[in-house]
Amino acid sequence: MDVLLVGGSGFVGSAVARRLHAAGVRVTVPTRRRERAKHLLVLPTIDVVEADVHDDGTLVRLMRGRDAVINLVGVLRGGEGLPYGKGFARAHVDLPGRIARAAAATGVRRLVHMSALRAAEDAPSGYLRSKAAGERAVLAAAPGLAVTIFRPSVIFGSGDSFLTLFAGLLKLAPLVPLACPDARFQPVWVEDVAAAFAAALRHPESSGHAFDLGGPRQYSLRELVDYAGRVSGHRRPILGLPLPLSRFQALVMEWVPGGPMTRDNVRSMQVPSVCPEGTAFPFGIAPAALEAVAPGYLGPPGAGFDAFRTRARR
Ligand SMILES: NC(=O)c1ccc[n+]([C@@H]2O[C@H](COP(=O)([O-])OP(=O)(O)OC[C@H]3O[C@@H](n4cnc5c(N)ncnc54)[C@H](OP(=O)(O)O)[C@@H]3O)[C@@H](O)[C@H]2O)c1
Repeated sequence: MDVLLVGGSGFVGSAVARRLHAAGVRVTVPTRRRERAKHLLVLPTIDVVEADVHDDGTLVRLMRGRDAVINLVGVLRGGEGLPYGKGFARAHVDLPGRIARAAAATGVRRLVHMSALRAAEDAPSGYLRSKAAGERAVLAAAPGLAVTIFRPSVIFGSGDSFLTLFAGLLKLAPLVPLACPDARFQPVWVEDVAAAFAAALRHPESSGHAFDLGGPRQYSLRELVDYAGRVSGHRRPILGLPLPLSRFQALVMEWVPGGPMTRDNVRSMQVPSVCPEGTAFPFGIAPAALEAVAPGYLGPPGAGFDAFRTRARR
């Protein structure tokens, strides 16, 4: 099998690339900066190419002869505006539509597309509205294309920008003023998400379906930050901010280059990022618990072994 993995250089994309490589799949990863994907260069069945996927001619060239395309491109900072900022429109709506059209034009019959849990036209944030519009764009652009969509909650794992970020902040700060402390999440392990993407390619009957992806437990943001503190050995008092102060903190952080929070993120957190009751993880995958994985990458060296032993029931 030969797969084009758009967005394959990122956190989730690298896990998907590694998983496909292990299954012997040939993978091409386009990136804006080859440097960003250098960790994939050592994998023999992975080809990293510097390319502008926003150019239709380039997309068609990249797509030709593939069996499937996976789209993982996403941004958290997409600007302000209605129904969503320009950055969200470009990455989450225009690009998926163009990927689907290029696939149809080159005879690629299979697309696996990354959305987000609680993506909806009437969602409070531009991020979630644009993810919903992206799903529609993909389906409308090429009606004959076999499309599987995944909608995960927040994703954790080595290299994440969620728990790792909090663990880093906790190391520096004596106290954490936390926006949206009661926001709800159902964190899912990046390896389980990657396994779902790989399984979708093996199961063509999954096309025409959208799967919500969540881990085994739900947590408030306060619980997750406290957990990151405990595991990393830097537990700190958490001062939960009310909504107006959460918005103000986010506004200030928007001015920090690469800042960890935007007003749009605060709006996203107004809807619980949890799966509807009774949602089963697809393809019979049993999603890993946060507690079985996080000590391995957040904790001091060796701290992960206990968690792995517990997981292996040894
Ligand atoms: N991480 C989570 O908790 C989470 C939760 C739910 C859904 N998701 C979705 O999962 C997907 C992957 O997330 P991630 O955490 O792996 O993100 P990431 O590490 O930031 O990676 C983003 C990827 O998208 C590419 N990209 C970003 N902006 C682009 C643009 N404007 N044009 C072209 N390519 C662009 C990057 O490629 P370059 O090499 O060119 O930079 C990179 O490969 C996203 O769609 C995200 O919305 C993530």
